[in-house]
Amino acid sequence: MSLLEGVTVAVAGMGPMGRGIARVFRAAGADVIVSDLTPELTQAGVDAIASESEADGEPVTVAGMPLTDAVARADLFIEAIVERMDAKASLLKAVAQAGRPELLVASNTSSLSIGEMGKEFGDPARVAGLHFFNPPTKMRLVEVIAGAATAPATLARVTALVEAAGKTPVACTDTPNFIVNRVCRPLYYEAQLLVMQGVEPAVVDAAASGALGHRMGPLTLLDFTGLHTHLASSETALREFGDPKYRPIPIVRGLVRNGMTGRAAGRGFYDYASEKPREAIARVLHPAPAESTGRVAFTGPDAPASDLEGADVVVYSCGAPSESGLARIRELLERAPVVVDSSDAGWVEQLPDGAAWARVHQPEGAGPFVEVVVDPVAGIQPGPAIELLLAGLGAASVEVPALPGLVADRLAHCMANEAYFVLEEGTADADAIDTALRLGMNHPIGPFEHVRRAGVGAVHASMRSMRDAFGDSRYRSSALMRRESAAAAR
Ligand SMILES: NC(=O)c1ccc[n+]([C@@H]2O[C@H](COP(=O)([O-])OP(=O)(O)OC[C@H]3O[C@@H](n4cnc5c(N)ncnc54)[C@H](O)[C@@H]3O)[C@@H](O)[C@H]2O)c1
Repeated sequence: MSLLEGVTVAVAGMGPMGRGIARVFRAAGADVIVSDLTPELTQAGVDAIASESEADGEPVTVAGMPLTDAVARADLFIEAIVERMDAKASLLKAVAQAGRPELLVASNTSSLSIGEMGKEFGDPARVAGLHFFNPPTKMRLVEVIAGAATAPATLARVTALVEAAGKTPVACTDTPNFIVNRVCRPLYYEAQLLVMQGVEPAVVDAAASGALGHRMGPLTLLDFTGLHTHLASSETALREFGDPKYRPIPIVRGLVRNGMTGRAAGRGFYDYASEKPREAIARVLHPAPAESTGRVAFTGPDAPASDLEGADVVVYSCGAPSESGLARIRELLERAPVVVDSSDAGWVEQLPDGAAWARVHQPEGAGPFVEVVVDPVAGIQPGPAIELLLAGLGAASVEVPALPGLVADRLAHCMANEAYFVLEEGTADADAIDTALRLGMNHPIGPFEHVRRAGVGAVHASMRSMRDAFGDSRYRSSALMRRESAAAAR
């Protein structure tokens, strides 16, 4: 028997989130009552739930009632009304008056404080956050947020109900942006900064998809969700954390001011009248050759003297340039064409004559992908070594300028660093963070799994190199990452 049988869930707010949440609980066997501001809006919600679930092939029906009637019958109340504390506070006061003493109260807020809502409700022990992702019927993740005074029994009960509804709960504390939207802040900021540094949006998105396996590149995603929404959440993050690394990037402010708020407006990072993101990405992406030809040998500073005999091209995978590394590359260049495989800023000055520069990625569950450094301003051309590399690996590629971290490592390492901050401050544990990014963003691996594969020392060194090159404190490593990196080096 489902844990939800005999349980009544009341949902307030019949926007897309409230409708989706109501469907999730009803489909899993709970009795569901919904409510909006007026009887007409409530009925519109009931009707929309019936028609949308029918269209998705999972028909359900729910009851509609005024708030006080809904709450008087409910075991769990979930609010999904407008994202304004004053509106949520007055709703919760009405719920406190109408509700049963054992009623559990949850908010689907993306950014407001659960503790503050608990105080408004009058009994913070019974209030938790249940942050569903859009669309709730399809996305498996629910962030379960504990306010400072939420009772452990409340958390245990709402977590069990979320699981019974077929979702994957992850626990986190009451901090601005919670897990997914917080760890993704640098993904969005760095993508925008790359555009400000002259990189075409499609190149950023192609690298994020090709090298990191992101289903949608960050700029396509920002255009999809709306740049005004992103700008507002950046301003909230800046205000709440007081850390300048969360300041909005000027390009977004400019676009929003001009009404270019993304896909719905016809113009954002992409101009939808002339070229959709998919078309722009196809234009900059070099697809993988049908079959791989030639032999690629990999080596590097820590690699044993492997067999380089018969290699058509040698890939030297490394971090920052060093005297010994440069000497080794020059030696290798006498035997075969060489590609330096690194995203470190230092190669812009130190790349030896005759060597090419690229970054080779092996994304989870997909073929190899190469960022090829082509930078006429810095005097860096791809050369025949790159053709041999792409043919030998059978890799797709995109051309990127010689910027610190290039594109993919810059995005991935800044996200991983933010994940360390989230872990360090006790918002969530590492497994919860990885699960949240996989299920909430459809990233193939979470940030800590990325660090395990890349090596914490390499990620920390990459952050340090970006900080030195850009001179911006947004690239400072978390103290926890630095300490782990030191331990790994011992
Ligand atoms: N849209 C998303 O992608 C997303 C994702 C996660 C969380 N959220 C959060 O979920 C909540 C709802 O989001 P949405 O996009 O569905 O909102 P929305 O603005 O589209 O819909 C809000 C609904 O709440 C109703 N409402 C307003 N005040 C009310 C009240 N006092 N009582 C009952 N109903 C009331 C409105 O009439 C409207 O139907 C917000 O807190 C939002 O931050 C949104």
